[in-house]
Amino acid sequence: MMTRSTSVFIDLAAIGDNISALKRSLEGRRFMAVVKADAYGHGAVAVARHIEQMVDAYAVAITEEAVELRTAGISKPILILEGPHSENDVAIAAKQDLWPAVHDLRQIEWCRAHQRPLPHIWIKIDTGMHRLGFAPEQLHSVKQSLEGAGCRRLTLMSHLASAEFPDSAITTQQLNLWRQIVSDWPGDVSLFNSAASRLELATKNDWARVGYAMYGGLVKDLSSNSELKPAMRFETAVLALRRIAAGEAVGYGGHWIARRDSLIATLPVGYGDGYPWAAQNGTPIEINGSLAPLVGRVSMDMLTVDATDCDDVEIGTRAILWGHNPGVDEVAAASGTIGYELMTRMTGRATRCYEE
Ligand SMILES: Cc1ncc(COP(=O)(O)O)c(C=O)c1O
Repeated sequence: MMTRSTSVFIDLAAIGDNISALKRSLEGRRFMAVVKADAYGHGAVAVARHIEQMVDAYAVAITEEAVELRTAGISKPILILEGPHSENDVAIAAKQDLWPAVHDLRQIEWCRAHQRPLPHIWIKIDTGMHRLGFAPEQLHSVKQSLEGAGCRRLTLMSHLASAEFPDSAITTQQLNLWRQIVSDWPGDVSLFNSAASRLELATKNDWARVGYAMYGGLVKDLSSNSELKPAMRFETAVLALRRIAAGEAVGYGGHWIARRDSLIATLPVGYGDGYPWAAQNGTPIEINGSLAPLVGRVSMDMLTVDATDCDDVEIGTRAILWGHNPGVDEVAAASGTIGYELMTRMTGRATRCYEE
């Protein structure tokens, strides 16, 4: 039986190298690897296992993701960024030694109602992103309430809405508020994500919560960018080739019309695998070492490329949708989205293969 050539290769060693590079720029701050959403599409268990000796802790969004890691034998601390969604989540956190973040009073009540105090809770403060978190004025009573319930270790966290723009009005406002809040906070604090892991953001930060850059995604102006390696390579091979005459159209709707006699390569990959439907004509795809433009609409299972200028293209020639060149950020930009979305919405139809 012939196997379909479309695969997602995950370079675990690249993730390890990226962590080393990012740690250098973090100057000793503790490294929390963000592995939510199946490690941004890279496979949470495989990634977490590979990097366990390099990181201080992990972060996931929801309890179920933390349980998956514990079940796979991951023993390092795991922060649950959204915190408990129910009293039962608090019981699971206690049993499995997870660190819940709390951002509303219902969660505090669930924690207080639990018989045994949770060893470590993160308090989320809304410094201006207005997505989750207590108002700064609530911090004192939240702290008292959790300490009253026996919780000994509290870490303060917030999230920046626009960390890639360190001088923007919103970042300045959030940083000013954050500096005030943490000035007399006795415990650990955590503000940084990938984009905030830049040294010019001089502020107290004990824990960096790093996701995108760890996978080799490019974050605007990050000093480590030149050292980061993409960990995901989305690959396929040419399924069909045809010559068409100038003036002929390709794909659904016939929107792309050849201006010259052209060689069209059909690749067995489409939005059913996670390649974006919205990718524009001209989005680069590597075929046999050269970049060729996507032409015509992306279908569910296939897409078409103008391979006229590529050397030696045959049925079976390898094609790279994203990896080193083009990078996922370039494909995302040509599709009106962000690399984060492309990484995390792989559908699972393309086989995932790990390289070490
Ligand atoms: C609260 C929080 N911290 C950290 C991160 C990691 O961000 P990044 O992937 O940009 O490093 C995220 C990601 O969405 C987040 O929601």
